[in-house]
Amino acid sequence: MNHPAYVFDAYGTLFDVHAAVRRHASEIGPDGQLLSEIWRAKQLEYSWIRTLMGSYRDFWQLTEEALDYALKKVPSADPALRARLLDAYWHLDCYPEVPAVLKALKTHGARLAILSNGSPQMLEAAVRSAALDNVIDEVFSVDAIARFKTDPAVYDIVTLAWRLYPDAISFQSSNRWDIAGAAKFGFRTVWINRTGQPDEYFDHAPGLILPSLDGLLVGQ
Ligand code: LAC
Repeated sequence: MNHPAYVFDAYGTLFDVHAAVRRHASEIGPDGQLLSEIWRAKQLEYSWIRTLMGSYRDFWQLTEEALDYALKKVPSADPALRARLLDAYWHLDCYPEVPAVLKALKTHGARLAILSNGSPQMLEAAVRSAALDNVIDEVFSVDAIARFKTDPAVYDIVTLAWRLYPDAISFQSSNRWDIAGAAKFGFRTVWINRTGQPDEYFDHAPGLILPSLDGLLVGQ
């Protein structure tokens, strides 16, 4: 029997990374969105640069360092919020359609996993807090190989563990650069373009573009 295999990116795809700042929006003031964007951009930049340098630190450390930088860049945000913002990162909201879509895929016999830059502890907390632990079969963290996306070895974690060819796996991410890495590796890819971003990395195009995960159920 053919069990379709779906692998999901975590942050931005299942979990809303901007929920942490939004939760404290009234205390942060008018520059909350800017703070959140710098926080996320730096977190990702650190992951790419550290992988290129061969100087790994886990994603939680990068998340802390990126917030420290963002708080310095946005002086209107009170640095005393640091602990609360970091704490919120362990209980991020998942996007509204996520629980129902994952449950429906599972009911149709699919294997479901997360493949993320997140540390195993961060991912475990996020999955549990969003009550997705009953539907997600496996959580793969890059921590096992101490390199971040888009190193091909990251995507290979799944094919090695599941003993599948890359084109047997449907990979969903809202991060276009992650879709580029996954497409280059050979996964079938679905770019979840939640915020209507322009396309890029044209030589590593997604197989499908959807505005949310809902479209995965079409044809099920
Ligand atoms: C992740 C980052 C890309 O979850 O958001 O891997």
